[in-house]
Amino acid sequence: MPVITEIEDLKRIYKRRVPKMFYDYCESGSWTEQTFRENCTDFDQLYLRQRVAIDMTGRSTATQMIGQDVAMPVALAPVGMTGMQNADGEIKAAKAAEKFGVPYCLSTMSICSIEDVAENTSKPFWMQVYTLKDDDYMKRLFDRAKAAKCSAAVITVDLQMLGQRHKDLKNGLSAPPKLTPKSIANMATKVPWGLEMLQTKRRFFGNIVGHAKGVTDPSSLTTWTAQSFDQALDWDRIREFRKMWDGPLIIKGIIDPRDALEACNVGADAIVVSNHGGRQLDGALSSIRALAPIMDAVGDKIEVHLDSGVRSGQDVLKAVAMGAKGCWIGRAYIYGLGAMGEAGVTRALEVIHKELDVSMALCGRTDINTVDRDILMIPKGFSGDWEE
Ligand SMILES: Cc1cc2nc3c(=O)[nH]c(=O)nc-3n(C[C@H](O)[C@H](O)[C@H](O)COP(=O)(O)O)c2cc1C
Repeated sequence: MPVITEIEDLKRIYKRRVPKMFYDYCESGSWTEQTFRENCTDFDQLYLRQRVAIDMTGRSTATQMIGQDVAMPVALAPVGMTGMQNADGEIKAAKAAEKFGVPYCLSTMSICSIEDVAENTSKPFWMQVYTLKDDDYMKRLFDRAKAAKCSAAVITVDLQMLGQRHKDLKNGLSAPPKLTPKSIANMATKVPWGLEMLQTKRRFFGNIVGHAKGVTDPSSLTTWTAQSFDQALDWDRIREFRKMWDGPLIIKGIIDPRDALEACNVGADAIVVSNHGGRQLDGALSSIRALAPIMDAVGDKIEVHLDSGVRSGQDVLKAVAMGAKGCWIGRAYIYGLGAMGEAGVTRALEVIHKELDVSMALCGRTDINTVDRDILMIPKGFSGDWEE
């Protein structure tokens, strides 16, 4: 087994191990992928201010996200089809998160169901909810999340319709994968992945098949998805969802200060500054560049988290220094999961934790809760100096 010292190491193993269709599904953004790329490269424009001769013993990265204790300010973001990256992937990722002491958020479009994850974990997880037209399905989804003792609901607001990723169309992405000469030829080179996949029953969208009306077999799912996502979604509809769920609520997918203020008005506990990892509106601003104006707009009205482009502990530190209470990671843990299952997710979290801890110390801070903009050197105009 190669020595894993950075997230990039996990990505290399992941690429070798998982069928191309699922690697491409993860490792792509919409259209030209400009936003997907800039989510990462914009972090490089922020510099950390090194300080010396400051006692760096007794450090702690422990903090809270939406009032819940976390070992570091990182949560695992909801990722559709995680169970196709590695058999029972959602259960494995949730277990790794639980042991590490960070929140796990399950996607509506997961392979393992809410109930599967609840049965196989002992700490509450967060449930991500796509906003669908079917009220019955939505009510039942929130009820199922309640029954599973989920400690937060996460409403994703940036996917009323799907941004186009060229590779998914060209690869004919599906779960389970359709057997074509091309996909069979590729899967034939991914034997350990395939053997594990054959040993699990969980190969379909577990929160949908058997739960949504008219979807009893997965072949009708594509039609169901296209017909069910609510293009008419507005803030009033989100208020209706707020009534269906009385626990902690997070609104995910905000990139503009005006939308952040709207989210404050629906009674959410937190927002996630996110462009869906560059998978929705290509040409949108990277999350790290969008963060400061949003922080300035919302003040202390609401807790602010960030995702999209976080690949290291330095990225987490920079986002926290800019004011985020925590970061969510998507691809960074999926690389680990695809590479090595639960152990790979743990390794991804360890790598990020170590980078965060050491970088924080070298900036002269010993407690993540004291990290502020003073540790950063932010280039002028980083957050944009746009025409009105
Ligand atoms: C393969 C993949 C599937 C995703 N599926 C979902 C999803 O089902 N629901 C959701 O709210 N976000 C989804 N996202 C977005 C993530 O929750 C998160 O916003 C994004 O991955 C953050 O960017 P990063 O991957 O650069 O960390 C997905 C992202 C990826 C990469």
